[in-house]
Amino acid sequence: MVKEMYNDINLDRIDINLEPPTEEPARQYYFMAKCREWVKDFEQKNGRSPKSCVINFGCQMNARDSEKLRGILRDVGYIESSEEKADFVIYNTCTVRENANTRIYGRLGQLKPRKKKNPHMMIGLCGCMMQEPEAVEKLKKSYSFIDLIFGTHNIYKFAELLAARFEAGRMVIDIWKDTDKIVENLPNERKYTFKSGVNIMFGCNNFCSYCIVPYVRGRERSRRPQAIIQEIRRLVADGVSEVMLLGQNVNSYGKTLDIPMSFAQLLKEIEKIEGLKRIRFMTSHPKDLSDELIKVMAESKKICRHLHLPIQSGSTRILEKMNRRYTKEQYLLLVEKLRAAVPDISLTTDIIVGFPGETEEDFKETLDVVRKVRYDSAFTFIYSKRTGTPAAVMEGQVPEEVVKDRFDRLLYEVQSIAGQMCAVHEGSVQEVLVESVSEQDPSMVTGRLSNNLLVHFPGSPELIGSYVDVTLKECKGFYYIGMK
Ligand code: 5AD
Ligand code: SF4
Repeated sequence: MVKEMYNDINLDRIDINLEPPTEEPARQYYFMAKCREWVKDFEQKNGRSPKSCVINFGCQMNARDSEKLRGILRDVGYIESSEEKADFVIYNTCTVRENANTRIYGRLGQLKPRKKKNPHMMIGLCGCMMQEPEAVEKLKKSYSFIDLIFGTHNIYKFAELLAARFEAGRMVIDIWKDTDKIVENLPNERKYTFKSGVNIMFGCNNFCSYCIVPYVRGRERSRRPQAIIQEIRRLVADGVSEVMLLGQNVNSYGKTLDIPMSFAQLLKEIEKIEGLKRIRFMTSHPKDLSDELIKVMAESKKICRHLHLPIQSGSTRILEKMNRRYTKEQYLLLVEKLRAAVPDISLTTDIIVGFPGETEEDFKETLDVVRKVRYDSAFTFIYSKRTGTPAAVMEGQVPEEVVKDRFDRLLYEVQSIAGQMCAVHEGSVQEVLVESVSEQDPSMVTGRLSNNLLVHFPGSPELIGSYVDVTLKECKGFYYIGMK
């Protein structure tokens, strides 16, 4: 685990007897200092530091948010532990599909008896599910043993809320509906020394008719390019060589800035950062993917040869009902342009089956796109009804057996094509960023190619974080066995 640089703040020098500052992030540093006092008190009484565990659900944006929570917990004195041993368990929730919520209720049910046994124990909930008023109502009523509930817009206030919980001694809830606030320079606990996610924007304005994200993550807002560049420079100085630029719709980056800037222009600036070797980004919306961006990708030495380009459905009729604002033909044309400009690009996608009104004909259009594009991999989802979205009240909800059958057929198609796409690189030598010791075999390490495929090859842990040329010996469908 790595301590990331943020303003060299010494929490012990902050006078917590004064009134809290009103400006950010100074206000949060103040509350971190306050929490630290509480932690010291805990240490005196119990002869040990309190232990915490942040469990992440959902997407990479959430994963990055979880790193921010861990950074604050570390700096106030918590020791990271497993969920079983933790005195403070935080679930950073997702709500993109219904089953994400169901899982949280299930896990909370399991935590309850533990909390009864351990008087120190605290439970925190944050993230997208907390932005749904019905979910919070249910938690208040039936899960009153929870200590802290906050949402996606005020996550930067975590230290302040934690201090409020320590003081109140009972459940604290703070949920905001929306915000245009972006607070920079808070601490962070990165999972990897050599790669990191970097938020470039928050929220989403697209309102795809099935999707709850615009309601729970709020309106689109971009970070200032200077703040992004500065963060990446610091990360590189701290050993990072690969960044993943994160946003719900990175292709519309910069539209809301005082001095507007395109995503392609931002990429060009990031490319100039010395010491940075790989740039990834997600997620791209096909409707906003510009020719300028394709050109920048083609000319770049650092942008990875991979693009995640969610199609959602291959039927223009369904795409219209989804409010995706492109047609099947426009999407296919875009793929053609991308492949012409960047021939070795790997393409992945998201597909939803069973959107309301989807007929067999519509579904066959989706299969057709899958066969034409030949994705390197695809995430396939069964449509999940999200209350409050336009699609939830659309007619023609598709029966479960029909959806299941389509899902299986789609998965078969996606997997067989992905296997063939993976095999084309067999025998080539490619640069790999080594990420970890292989989970299956401790004498092997696992690394990632520019096109995002994984390779396992014989090697020792010292290789982690370095770039190695590896011969791709054998394709195993979704990954390779290689040799240095
Ligand atoms: N049902 C099923 N899948 C969904 N996604 C978003 N909302 C829903 C929903 N209501 C999928 C989309 C998106 C991915 C992150 O999750 O495919 O690209
Ligand atoms: Fe949801 Fe569409 Fe926004 Fe993606 S672009 S987060 S699918 S509304």
